[in-house]
Amino acid sequence: MAGKVTASEIREGVRATFTRVAETPTQAFRFPVGPALARQVGYPEDVLASLPPLASEAFTGLAYLHPHLDLRPGERVLDLGSGAGLDAVLAARAVSPGGSVTGLDSAEAMIARAQTLAAILGIKSVEFVNADAEAMPFDAGTFDAALVNGFFNLCPDKATVARELHRVLRPAGRAAVAEITFTDPLPPAEVQTIDDWFR
Ligand SMILES: C[S@@+](CC[C@H](N)C(=O)[O-])C[C@H]1O[C@@H](n2cnc3c(N)ncnc32)[C@H](O)[C@@H]1O
Repeated sequence: MAGKVTASEIREGVRATFTRVAETPTQAFRFPVGPALARQVGYPEDVLASLPPLASEAFTGLAYLHPHLDLRPGERVLDLGSGAGLDAVLAARAVSPGGSVTGLDSAEAMIARAQTLAAILGIKSVEFVNADAEAMPFDAGTFDAALVNGFFNLCPDKATVARELHRVLRPAGRAAVAEITFTDPLPPAEVQTIDDWFR
């Protein structure tokens, strides 16, 4: 592939890449994956040790967001781009009893991994939905809070996703967001193929 990469090629490339991460997380990627990354970005050792290896093997987030969200029992939480489910199961613990967590991801293999993790842990208050964030299958005001851990940077249409996130959060709902940003635009010559989307 050469020249300008279209939005639909990016969506397909993102889905294909995170399908590979879900299926074979130890293969080489252009970005870090796994438990060492989780430690590096601040997940406490005791938190990781309280979960099976499956929880962090395919982790690709950017930060330990939970202290910033201060989740409370009974709250309804969205994990946007939930990946292998680490944040979703931690959130499910935090909102118990009475709360619920919905993970949304466009890669079916990630959904399957996260569902297996929740089943192993016996967590019933979490569900994982296979959908695209540009058209979230939720009513307005469904969630009290959202975790967004390494997500917007992958989306070709960030404004639409931001509007969707705003719509599905209740008024005065809150979100904790970790992102990669560039301080300067990339030179066009460095954005020639879908692989250039992943750094
Ligand atoms: C960088 S990973 C982060 C995963 C997870 N938050 C974590 O901390 O490990 C981004 C995730 O978002 C999903 N994703 C990317 N674009 C998406 C979109 N437009 N709609 C839904 N999911 C998307 C990918 O499949 C991937 O699992």
